[in-house]
Amino acid sequence: MAAQPRKTVKGKSYGQRRPPLTHILKSILERYPDGGQILKEIIQNADDAGATKVSFLLDSRQDFYGGNSLVAPSLSQFQGPALYAQNNALFEESDWENLQKLMDSNKKNDPLKVGRFGIGFNSVYHLTDLPSIVSGDCIVFLDPHEIHFGRGETGQQFSLEDELLENHEDQFKPYENVLDCKISTRFYNGTLFRFPLRSAPSDLSKKVYSKEKVRKLFQALKEEAPVILLFLKNIEEISLFETDERGVKRHVFTVRLSDSCRQEVREKKRNFLNNLRRLSDGQIKNINLSLDLHVLEKTEGGERWKINGLCTTRLMLEIQLSKNCP
Ligand SMILES: Nc1ncnc2c1ncn2[C@@H]1O[C@H](COP(=O)(O)OP(=O)(O)O)[C@@H](O)[C@H]1O
Ligand SMILES: [Mg+2]
Repeated sequence: MAAQPRKTVKGKSYGQRRPPLTHILKSILERYPDGGQILKEIIQNADDAGATKVSFLLDSRQDFYGGNSLVAPSLSQFQGPALYAQNNALFEESDWENLQKLMDSNKKNDPLKVGRFGIGFNSVYHLTDLPSIVSGDCIVFLDPHEIHFGRGETGQQFSLEDELLENHEDQFKPYENVLDCKISTRFYNGTLFRFPLRSAPSDLSKKVYSKEKVRKLFQALKEEAPVILLFLKNIEEISLFETDERGVKRHVFTVRLSDSCRQEVREKKRNFLNNLRRLSDGQIKNINLSLDLHVLEKTEGGERWKINGLCTTRLMLEIQLSKNCP
C-alpha cells in the first residue's frame, strides 16, 4: 500500500522571550553606581581609543535648539539641556560594532585596554534616554526604548554625507560649533557624544537628571582629575565647560600634564605598556613603572596655570607587576 503523505502539524508561536532592551539596561544601572563613575567610564573609553584630550560640556539651554525639522517629531524632547563629552580620537569600524554589543567586549583579549566587560558605556543611561555620537563621517542615535526610529529599532546610524543635514537642520544644530565639532563640514576628526538630560521618568530610570546633578559630577571629577591622569595611558588633559541658560560659555576647569614631564611620562608609559604585553605573553616575569607627574590646573576665571591644587606639586606612582607561570 502506498504511504500516505504526512500531514504537517502547525503549532502556535511559543517560546521564552528576550526581555526588552530597557529592562536589561535598567538592571545594569541598578548594579552600576550613579555619580562620578559615569564620567570616568567615558574618560576610560577615550583613553582606550588612544585619545590624548577629553572635554565635557554642560549645555543648560532649554529652548535654544528648534524642534521642527527633526528626523522624527518625537525627538523634540531631546533638544534641551545636555551633557557633551568630546575626545580627539576617531571611532574605528570595530568601535561602532562594539558599541552595538551588550556585555561583550572585544577588548577582553587586549591586555593594554582597560575595558573588559562591554558595560561601562551604558552607565550614561543614568542620565539620558537617547545618547548620540558623532565621529568621522557618521552620527549614531541610540534609542533603547525602540520608539523613535520604528518598531524594534534600537537606534539609527546616518552618514554625514547624506542630504540629511540640509533636510533636518534642527536635528543636527546641537552638534554645530560644539567644542571643536562642526558637523556642517560633514566630517569630525574626533568623537563627540551628546547626552540629553532625562527630563521625565522613563523605562530606563525614574530619575530625572538636572543640571545641578551634572555640576556635582563635574565637581567630583575636578577633585579627582590629577590622580586620574596618573592612571591613564594616553589622556594628558581633561577640561570642563558650561554654557549657561543665557548661552554664555564658561571654562570651568582644566587639568593638564606639565610640559616639563610630558615627554618622560609618555616614554615611561609606552615602555610599561610594551612590557605589559610581553608580561602577558609570558616573555618576561616582572615589570615596574615609576612615574613622577607634574600636573597643571586652571580653574574658572583663573588666567594662569597653577601647579595642582594639592599641597604637593608632584604625584608619584610606583607599580610592580609579576606573573607567576605554572
Ligand atoms: N570614546 C570612544 N572611542 C572609541 N570607541 C568607544 C568610545 N566609547 C565607547 N567606545 C566603543 O564602545 C564599546 C563599548 O564600551 P564599554 O561599554 O565601555 O565597554 P568596554 O570598554 O568594556 O569595551 C567599546 O569597546 C568601544 O569599542
Ligand atoms: Mg569601557
